[in-house]
Formats: sequence, structure tokens, C-alpha cells
Amino acid sequence: MPLPKAELHLHIEGTLEPELAFELAARNDVSLPYADTEALRDAYRFTDLQSFLNLYYELMTVLRTERDFADLADAYLARAAAQGVRHAEIFFDPQAHLARGVGMDTVVDGLWRALGTSRERHGVSTRLILCFLRDESAESALATLDAARPHLDRITGVGLDSAEVGHPPAKFREVFEAAAALGLRRVAHAGEEGPPEYITEALDVLGVERIDHGLRCLEDPALVERLARERIPLTLCPLSNVRLRTVDTLADHPLPALLDAGLMCTLNSDDPAYFGGYVGDTFDAVREVLGLDGERLRELARNSFLASFLEDDEELRARCLAEVAAYDLG
Ligand code: ADE
Ligand code: ZN
Repeated sequence: MPLPKAELHLHIEGTLEPELAFELAARNDVSLPYADTEALRDAYRFTDLQSFLNLYYELMTVLRTERDFADLADAYLARAAAQGVRHAEIFFDPQAHLARGVGMDTVVDGLWRALGTSRERHGVSTRLILCFLRDESAESALATLDAARPHLDRITGVGLDSAEVGHPPAKFREVFEAAAALGLRRVAHAGEEGPPEYITEALDVLGVERIDHGLRCLEDPALVERLARERIPLTLCPLSNVRLRTVDTLADHPLPALLDAGLMCTLNSDDPAYFGGYVGDTFDAVREVLGLDGERLRELARNSFLASFLEDDEELRARCLAEVAAYDLG
């Protein structure tokens, strides 16, 4: 049995495997500009975040019906369960679907078909986090939050993703304030490609509780000290960082330095269909390549539950933490 863990940084659209993409394309009569799954996989050579996002948005055009979103989420949950995931806080990008004429109802109802039965079917508890696309306008984000109002009983929080540089967190002050007033939890991608100032701004202006990625905090020692002191979780995604060329190789990843600095790090897969592995694979890779010992891996797993939004199910959190503490890491 794999080490129990929570996954806190996972874009559901980024779990679209080539095989499912072709299946959905056929089902929905959408034509993809790739001959087959092999040709598609061949296109997974990214130079930066934008080069990935271009393909990510192109491929999601195959997602059209409730059933598509349900199948997508169910496939992820099955894979996640097999890799030890007990709890998943799942991002989705409604603006990318609304722009194609796919309604909020279709997206949320479809995802919920899988998420709502995940505990019984896969043993994975779930939460849903609605992400705003930061390269769209602040008005569009506000309209998206408005469109989500009928679904807020199934949405735990809001996040901020897509192309980071040139789109500082403060652009979304108003929508994050509105989300907070609705009782939603808040997270944001910051310091993936953008500067450390974006991390500070996400904390101070948007009031986020976790930073997604946050790698570039290392350029600002005072910020590192603050993140450690305030126990702000970072949802790190090492395989993503390698594929998007934020770090040269996994061996160069600063995870050990971040842990040594006392930061509350968690390990996640981001867009696993595109980046070569799910979260269990990520644990295996950092163990092997970065030489993390068993206690470090246990710390990462423990952090994932501590940093999760499980305040409404402390019993599950406690049970998972106890399993992590008792797990034999050899
Ligand atoms: N959307 C999907 N994956 C993303 C990432 N790694 N960074 C920003 N936006 C994303
Ligand atoms: Zn991400």
C-alpha cells in the first residue's frame, strides 16, 4: 500500500490523458489536429508555461458534456487512489469552458457526478476549487464567480491560475474579496514563473491561505522567513517545474532547500497527464533523484493533510495523519 497523501494542486483538465482525449473527440465529433495518441504525446515538449497552456486549452475542446467531465474526474480519482491519495482538492477552469459555450452547470454537475461518489467508489475524499484565469480580465473573473453562485454548496474555494507574468494578483483583489465574503477558501498560483513580489501580493492583497508553486520565494530571504514563520503551505509540483523548464532537471529542484528552510512544503502533480506522472510517481521521483529519506517523505505526506481544507472533517484528517505516522517507509 502506498504512503497515504492528500493532493492539493491538481488541475482536473490537466488529467486528460491522450487516450481519453481521442475517445471524447470521437464521442463528440471534435477533430483533433493529431493523427493518434502517439503524435499527441509527441507534442508534449514544452519550453515554458505558455507553450503548455496552448496545448492544454486546445485539448480541452473535447470536453463538452456532463458525462465527459464525469469520466475525466473519475479516471483521475481511480489513478489517484492507486497512488495513495486519500483526499484531493481539485482545481477546475470554468472560464475555459464557458468561452466555448459549455455552461457552468455542465461542468460542475459533471465533475460532481464523480466527486460526489468518490469516497465510496475510490476511497478518496474531494473538494472543488474554482480557478480564475489570470490572463482574462477582472470583470470576467467576477462574472464567473457570479455564474458559480448556484453551485457554491459544492465549491470549497477559489484559486488563480494560467499565464502568470504580467498578471499580478492585485488585479483580482475585488473577486477574491467577494469570494471571501461568500465563505470561500482562497489559494493562488504565485512564484511559478512570476517574481517573489507576486507571492507577497497574493498573501497580503488576496488573503490566500496557500501558495501554489511559490518556488521563486527563494529569491527573497525575508519572504522565505515569513513563509516559514507563518507556516504558509507551498503546493509544489516538481515534475511540472521540470517539464515547463522552471528548473533544468529534477536533480536541480530546490525542494531540499525549501524543506531545510523550514517551509511547509507539499508535493503535487499539477497536470499529470502532461508532465509525466501522478502524485505517487512524484514522491517516488523525488525520493530517487533528490535522495529524500523516509522521514522527509513522511513530513511531506503529513503536511499535505495539515495544509488541506479538511476543517469540516477533522475525523478524516486525524485518521489520515495517524496512518502517515504509522506508515513503514522502510
Ligand atoms: N493551469 C494549469 N496548469 C497550470 C500551471 N502549472 N500554472 C498556471 N496555470 C495552470
Ligand atoms: Zn497549477
